[in-house]
Amino acid sequence: MQFFIDTASLDEIKEAQDLGVLDGVTTNPSLMAKEGISGEQECMDHYKKICDIVDDKVSAEVIATDYDNMIKEGEKYAAIDDKIVVKIPIIKEGVKAIKYLTSKGIRVNTTLIFSAGQAIIAAKAGATYISPFIGRLDDISRDGVDLIAQIVNIYDNYDFETEVLAASIRHPMHIVQCAEVGADVCTCPLSSILALINHPLTDNGLAKFLADYNKTLEVESA
Ligand code: G3P
Repeated sequence: MQFFIDTASLDEIKEAQDLGVLDGVTTNPSLMAKEGISGEQECMDHYKKICDIVDDKVSAEVIATDYDNMIKEGEKYAAIDDKIVVKIPIIKEGVKAIKYLTSKGIRVNTTLIFSAGQAIIAAKAGATYISPFIGRLDDISRDGVDLIAQIVNIYDNYDFETEVLAASIRHPMHIVQCAEVGADVCTCPLSSILALINHPLTDNGLAKFLADYNKTLEVESA
């Protein structure tokens, strides 16, 4: 399973990149706003800074909601760097834009996926990734991980090459559950990635090993 980080914070992206387990970055207009990025040029400059930190796969989301402007915006983002993946929402105009951009060799991440039907349409249009928002489904008492399992099964049935990118991850167990049902990618907040590392028995075990080692030093110097 690949790990993407779901943030526009350069510090968090650097920290995740330094861990050596990062495969990509996803952003969205809310995450860009959180970093105080506004306007087209500032967004483009920020995407370039992100591309300079990571190896590949930086999702940049279009703001336009009509076909012509989605394409224009998508092509502009794609020209920033080969690492850019254009993020398009699953709406009617978006489906046409996915088809066009992928025909031009531009990778597309289809966002705001909440049903298997939307995932089928996005795969038919040629999307490289689809992003089901599992946390937001859990928020309304639906099972987000069940949707991931359903889409993985459907894509397997037809050998669709579109990758399932689980998004809206809220805690480390979401990541483990997505891995169990075969998600290709999880895009996570830094806190959830770091939480995967922690275990109290690891901390206790390490403290004991170090204490025992220090005792041997005391015996040697006695
Ligand atoms: O980037 C899309 C998605 O991960 C958003 O997550 O936490 O706003 O539901 P959230």
